[in-house]
Amino acid sequence: MSVDSALAAPAELAGTLTGPLTPVHPEDLVPGWWRSAVIYQVYPRSFRDLNGDGIGDLAGITAELPKLADLDIDAVWLSPFYRSPQRDAGYDVSDYCDVDPLFGTLADFNAMMAEATRLGLRMIVDLVPNHCSDQHVAFQAALAASAGSPERDHFIFRDGLGTFGEEPPNNWQSHFGGPAWSRITEPDGTPGQWYLHLFDTSQPDFNWDNDAVHEEFERVLRFWLDRGVAGFRVDVAHALVKAPGLPEWGGRADGNSCDGYPGHDAPMFGQPALHNIYRRWRQILSEYGPDRILCAEANVDPLPRLADWVRPDEMHQAFNFPYLHAGLDVHRMRGIITESLTALDSVGAPSTWVLSNHDVVRHATRFGYDGHAPRDGDGIGSFDPQPDEVLGRSRAAAASMFMLGLPGGAYLYQGEELGLPDGINIPDNQRQDPTFARTGGERLGRDGCRVPLPWRTAEPHAGFGDGAAPWLPQPESFAGLARDAQAASPASHLNLYRRMLAERRALGLGRGSLAWAEAWCTDTCLAYVNGTTLVLLNAGRESVELPAGRVLIRSGQREAGDGLESAELPDSGHRLSPGEAVWLEINLEDAES
Ligand code: GLC
Repeated sequence: MSVDSALAAPAELAGTLTGPLTPVHPEDLVPGWWRSAVIYQVYPRSFRDLNGDGIGDLAGITAELPKLADLDIDAVWLSPFYRSPQRDAGYDVSDYCDVDPLFGTLADFNAMMAEATRLGLRMIVDLVPNHCSDQHVAFQAALAASAGSPERDHFIFRDGLGTFGEEPPNNWQSHFGGPAWSRITEPDGTPGQWYLHLFDTSQPDFNWDNDAVHEEFERVLRFWLDRGVAGFRVDVAHALVKAPGLPEWGGRADGNSCDGYPGHDAPMFGQPALHNIYRRWRQILSEYGPDRILCAEANVDPLPRLADWVRPDEMHQAFNFPYLHAGLDVHRMRGIITESLTALDSVGAPSTWVLSNHDVVRHATRFGYDGHAPRDGDGIGSFDPQPDEVLGRSRAAAASMFMLGLPGGAYLYQGEELGLPDGINIPDNQRQDPTFARTGGERLGRDGCRVPLPWRTAEPHAGFGDGAAPWLPQPESFAGLARDAQAASPASHLNLYRRMLAERRALGLGRGSLAWAEAWCTDTCLAYVNGTTLVLLNAGRESVELPAGRVLIRSGQREAGDGLESAELPDSGHRLSPGEAVWLEINLEDAES
């Protein structure tokens, strides 16, 4: 039985599309592949282990790329694979122009690029310009040099406060917990200056007031552009430049607004001088033609300021984190979508949409709670209230269907197409995220969403690799959720994703328009029209009648059994179940505008 015949939609359904449409966003006619692209994030250490050391590698990625191409994505974003002591899973880079032996060699990288090209996939790599590893030669040189030297000036060194310089230079806190400053021992053995690290102690921040730092990163950009990458996801792009004088800040370490401390005042984030850096990088990318892109990981608060990052001569895209954090709160979702599209349209940029990545609890787990997941963002442990996996997977399918109908680009995180949950039962001594140690275990950290992928049900470690045990333990449910089992099961989560992505492309939804379908926007439902497609999400507890139209695809059309269980098919087919989403082809003449 083919996937299509198994999921064939019922023909015309009862009901009418009534009520006004509130237009928000017009069809996108501007050229640029990324404007509607679906970009799939590969987290190399957890993707596929071919050399049997328990950690994923580039050869593993190359081997499985055809399966990603089969999903009908446009590009892959690779999290860091550069030389690194791996204190922050590779976001602590000691050599920006080499591959860490853990993942392979530059030759493996070239082979991966060749395979991607053969399959028509673009590759985007991660650039980490805010900080490097303390093992980077430039930082080692800074430690060996004296205060005030050119070597120290590549980083942010300051004398401490207090009589003997024993206090940190200001009160900034690390994103991972604890102070954002560490004191060094000078080459002569005396207690010395302090250096700034917004993240782990092993991640010293670069000094972007120094031209040499600019020059070095321009070299790094060209190194990877010359190897054919389609662009860069820019790590903590909002943090490179700090406010002159490094003023005190009592607000949140992540720069989000809190009482008395609006995010836009944070002295370590969103400084105006950042934009010149990205203008320069955009020029460099343009030298390589119109298709290389920059995507900002910029945590910008409030949301409309995100538009400043994607002005025509700056970055091409920025992640929309407010959308990721909106949960299934339809009022919040509507506000964020309207605000994003309006702000980004004002500068001619597309939005991106995302529900999961390597820094947050997977959405199949977040949505397995009624209400908010405990300690969202800080990981979930075995002593926390436990999510309902089946409910979570079912709602995750609906949330993804709602997201993939939106105009703009979309980012997927490896394993979400399998409906994977977070790993929860990870023993403390196996947790590797520095957040865990830096907060004395109070925040569990991000290991849960980084658990190695299941590929083959019947193989050891669910087919992640046939050697050493995976670097993080896989939950029991992973074997049943493995890709091979789902590929063979027409109504699996994986096949739902395939159909959604194929349909999204066929309908041109990424390039489309958005108008709210007011008749279907209630306290628990949210609906928009994109072209001739009505997308409706039922986030409530009661089923709702389906609007008129031909059902193209619905998220509840997944089967029970073998760990691939899901919401039951609605019995009448004329109603949308709680926690279900649908795409309908509609006749717009039925709508009042
Ligand atoms: C970004 C990355 C995260 C990393 C941090 C420091 O937020 O996504 O994983 O720990 O930057 O580089």
